[in-house]
Amino acid sequence: MQFVVLTLFPELFDTFQNHGMIRRAVELQKISLQTIQIRDFAEGRHRVTDDRPYGGGPGMVMKPEPVAGAMRSALKMAPDARRIHLTPQGRPFSNTMARQLAKEKELILLCGRYEGIDERICRNFIDDEVSIGDYILTGGELAAMVVIDAVSRFIPGVLGCADSSEDDSFSDCLLEHAHYTRPFEFEGDPVPEVLLSGDHGKIGHWRLQSSLMRTFFKRKDLLIDHALTAEELKIMEGWQKEIQSIIDFQQKE
Ligand code: ADE
Repeated sequence: MQFVVLTLFPELFDTFQNHGMIRRAVELQKISLQTIQIRDFAEGRHRVTDDRPYGGGPGMVMKPEPVAGAMRSALKMAPDARRIHLTPQGRPFSNTMARQLAKEKELILLCGRYEGIDERICRNFIDDEVSIGDYILTGGELAAMVVIDAVSRFIPGVLGCADSSEDDSFSDCLLEHAHYTRPFEFEGDPVPEVLLSGDHGKIGHWRLQSSLMRTFFKRKDLLIDHALTAEELKIMEGWQKEIQSIIDFQQKE
C-alpha cells in the first residue's frame, strides 16, 4: 500500500514513520509513506496557503491552488489512489472502513488546517471524506496517522502474526478478551487458572466469556448490533440463570 499525505506539516510524520509497526511495515515494503508539502505549490515570495473566507467571518480557508497542485503531484506518484480528505464532517472512521481501505493499492490523504479547505477542492479532487470522531482537531494530520495505522494493520504481513488483526476488539463486533502475561501473581492478583491449563477448548471458551462480559459492561451498543452465536447465547443464558438464582435467594431472606 502506498500512502501519500498532503500536508502543511510533513515533519509531523517523521516520528510516526520511524517507530514500531509502521517502521517495520515500511522496511518490509508492505507500505510506503510519502508526504507532500502543500506550501511547495503556493505562489509568490511568501508562499501563502490560506486566505480570508468569502462572505466574511472568522478564521482562514486553505486556498485551492496549492492544494490542487499538491494533489496533481500526488496523482503522478499514485495515479489509482483513492483520495481521502480528513475532516470532522466526514464518514465516521471504523475498523470496518480500515479493513476496506486496506484493499486499495494507493491512498492519498489530504490534511486540512485552519477553518477548512476551499469547497471546490472537496468537490472536484476528493473521493471520500473521513472523520476520526466527533471532535475538532487543529488539523487532519493526527487523523491521517490514525487512518494509516489502522489500515496498515489489515495489510497482510504487517502484523507479526498473520491473522492477529482479526482477533482484535471490533473484528467480530465484540471487544477483545482480557490479556495476562508473567508474573503469575502480580501484587497478590493471580492469572485465571484456566489460562495455564493448556486446554485450548477451555481457554477459547473463557476468552469468549471475557469478550462478552467486557462488551456488556463497556460497550452495550456493540452487543445489541452483534448477532450472537449459539455459544454466546448459551453463555449469556448461563449468566441470566446465575443472576436470577442470586435474586431469588436474596428475596427469600
Ligand atoms: N480534522 C479536524 N478534526 C478532524 C477529525 N475529527 N477527523 C478527521 N479530520 C479532522
